[in-house]
Amino acid sequence: MRTNQRGKTNMKATLKYALPALAIIVLVIIWANRSGKSTMISAADPGGKLSLVDYIHQQKLPCLQCHQLTTGSYGPGFKVVARNYKSNSKALATLATHIEKGYGFMPGGLASKEQAEVLADKIMKLNLNQ
Ligand code: HEC
Repeated sequence: MRTNQRGKTNMKATLKYALPALAIIVLVIIWANRSGKSTMISAADPGGKLSLVDYIHQQKLPCLQCHQLTTGSYGPGFKVVARNYKSNSKALATLATHIEKGYGFMPGGLASKEQAEVLADKIMKLNLNQ
């Protein structure tokens, strides 16, 4: 009987502390998620201030493992791509799709749709005279 009662008391004590603790944990998680979102880097580059390479670094994308700006490595140089698509009126949409979904030996899923659009735009804006 005694043991039983102590058992109950302990249970109550546990609940008394566990519930507020749980509430605090939940609040901390909600808070962490909120602040995470507010500091999250957007896929867009408002104002287009970043260079292609800076954007790739900022978004932590793997593009430079297979591409360089001018010369080909595993993938073609970005300026070579820009030159090839120079007179293609659908260059932006085509490149964005290829970057997002993959193309030939390049796997898809390396960048989001939004990132792919920014990347295609920056590739086509590369200065081909440099
Ligand atoms: C695993 C290596 C690899 C990575 C990582 C990679 N690429 Fe590629 N990429 C390739 C290869 C290989 C090709 C050539 C595909 C072909 O012609 O078969 C290519 C082609 C391209 C093309 C030309 C597509 C066309 O229509 O001609 C663009 C643009 C491009 N990549 C951009 C990117 C960007 C931007 C990233 C980063 C999000 C990226 N790539 C990441 C390997 C890669």
